[in-house]
Amino acid sequence: MSQYLTAENSVEVVNARIGAETDPRLALVMSSLVRHLHAFIKDVRLTEAEWESAIGFLTETGQMCSDQRQEFILLSDTLGASMLVDAVNHPKPAGATETTVFGPFHVANAPERPMGAQISLDGKGEICLYQGRVLDLDGNPVENALIDVWSDNADGFYDVQQPGLQPQWNNRGIFRTGPDGRYAFRGIKPVSYPIPDDGPVGRMLAALGRHPWRPAHMHFLVTAPGFERVITHTFVAGDDYLTSDAVFGVKQSLITTFVPTQSQSEAWVADYDFVLTKAS
Ligand code: BEZ
Ligand code: FE
Repeated sequence: MSQYLTAENSVEVVNARIGAETDPRLALVMSSLVRHLHAFIKDVRLTEAEWESAIGFLTETGQMCSDQRQEFILLSDTLGASMLVDAVNHPKPAGATETTVFGPFHVANAPERPMGAQISLDGKGEICLYQGRVLDLDGNPVENALIDVWSDNADGFYDVQQPGLQPQWNNRGIFRTGPDGRYAFRGIKPVSYPIPDDGPVGRMLAALGRHPWRPAHMHFLVTAPGFERVITHTFVAGDDYLTSDAVFGVKQSLITTFVPTQSQSEAWVADYDFVLTKAS
C-alpha cells in the first residue's frame, strides 16, 4: 500500500497511523469513525463548499454552547443519535420500563417533597394527579425509590429557561416511595413545546423542512438501591406531535392516557407504574 493518501486507500492510510500503544477501545472507535466518514464523503461526493459549510456549522454549534445551552447535545438529539445511544446501552427485558432522552432541562438536587405535593408553583395550567407504583420485574414494590420529576409550565417553558419569571423549582420535585412502592404528586398536564431553535440546530431543522416541537411529556428519573436507574418520560396520549417528536423520544409504552376527573383538587389523573431491572 502506498503511504500517500488517495481516494482509494484513504481509510487504510489514516488508520495505519494509529499507534501500537493506543488504547484498544479508542483505536476501534476512531478507526470505525474514519471508515464511515470517508465512505460518507465518497457516497455524497462532498463538495469543497459543502465541507466549508459543515465546518462553519460545527464551529457555530460550539460557539452556541454555554453553561445554559448545549447545542451539540441538541444536534445529537435531533439527528436521532441520543436515542440510538440510549437504545444500544439500555436494552430492556419485556415488562421493564423503557428509557428515553434525558434532555437539557434536568436540575440536580430538586427539593424532596411529601407524597401528593404540588410541584407547579406558578398557578398556571390544568392540575394533574400523577400516581402509580415502582415495582421490580416480579411485581414486588420497590421501597426507597427516588422519583425525580420535571416538566415545562403551561406556557411551554422550563423554570431554568425563565429565571426570575418563574419561581425556582417550578414543576420539579423528588418523591421517595414507602414499603408499598407507591408514588403520587400533583403537577400540570404538560403542553407540547419547541426545543430551542434560535441557533444552528434550529436552522438545520428549518432547512430540512422539520419542525422543532416535542409532544407534551413529564420527565422522570427513577433510582433505587440495587436497581438500574431509569431516565424516561410519560407522554400525553393524543398529542399532535407523538409521531414527529423533534428528538425521536417517543416509545409506545410511554404514552399515557390522561383521564379527566370530577375532583376539586385536580382536573386530570395520569397513572403509570415504573418497573425497574436489577443493577448488574
Ligand atoms: C426535553 O425534553 O426537555 C428536551 C429533550 C431534548 C432536547 C431538548 C429538550
Ligand atoms: Fe422536556
